[in-house]
Amino acid sequence: MAQTLLKVTGLKVAYGGIQAVKGIDFEVREGELVSLIGSNGAGKTTTMKAITATLPYLGGDIEFLGKSIKGRGAWDLVADGLVMVPEGRGVFTRMTITENLQIGAYIRKDKAEIAKDIDRVFATFPRLKERATQLAGTMSGGEQQMLAMGRALMARPKVLLLDEPSMGLSPIMVDKIFEVVKQVYDQGVTVLLVEQNASRALQLADRGYVMESGLITMSGDAKVMLNDPKVRAAYLGE
Ligand SMILES: Nc1ncnc2c1ncn2[C@@H]1O[C@H](COP(=O)(O)OP(=O)(O)OP(=O)(O)O)[C@@H](O)[C@H]1O
Ligand SMILES: [Mg+2]
Repeated sequence: MAQTLLKVTGLKVAYGGIQAVKGIDFEVREGELVSLIGSNGAGKTTTMKAITATLPYLGGDIEFLGKSIKGRGAWDLVADGLVMVPEGRGVFTRMTITENLQIGAYIRKDKAEIAKDIDRVFATFPRLKERATQLAGTMSGGEQQMLAMGRALMARPKVLLLDEPSMGLSPIMVDKIFEVVKQVYDQGVTVLLVEQNASRALQLADRGYVMESGLITMSGDAKVMLNDPKVRAAYLGE
């Protein structure tokens, strides 16, 4: 079986007195696309923030590449290949497309390789190439999502965490974004995909987890989950 890249055990995260994540277990193995689905306020983003060390956790543990991330800094984890595209994209609006991509590689020193990776991102997202010198803040939501994904790829992720990449996009853009997620996965990048669009996320994934009110309530093979009446009733509007 493939190596476990990310292992979460008994994870608990709170905001003051409010427990947002109440003890969850899950793992992501090398080469997998795993989807974490669940409705608003389930605790998905909180979980992503804990994994990337942007939020401390109270209990349990998170292991990346077999070692606890406890006490490590967010940038240190990025350098090791744990890279997130946050909810809401977080592109640098007053910088150009190219500058945003260069920032994604700022932990790297290999200039020639960085230039090659920018070309590779432009090949994946031709739209970004057309707009290379445009300010990121003037791009559409879908274009900004592409840029955020491109920027994350510049860090050469071992595990790419995507927090609701389809949020707020038009149906055509949603199609495009899911197509790109598949392309990235097909290139061999391990992906943890957080989505409210459960149907699309499970269609793409190898395995899935359902999160409700801070707990994981279902998990399994994504295709099996897609056909599970309980999942269909709760998340696929049936
Ligand atoms: N900074 C914060 N301070 C206090 N409570 C917070 C904070 N951020 C999130 N929460 C609460 O934690 C719970 C989980 O929120 P979280 O953002 O993780 O949900 P989510 O599953 O990502 O939802 P969505 O699909 O809407 O993005 C919610 O009840 C939310 O109100
Ligand atoms: Mg969220």
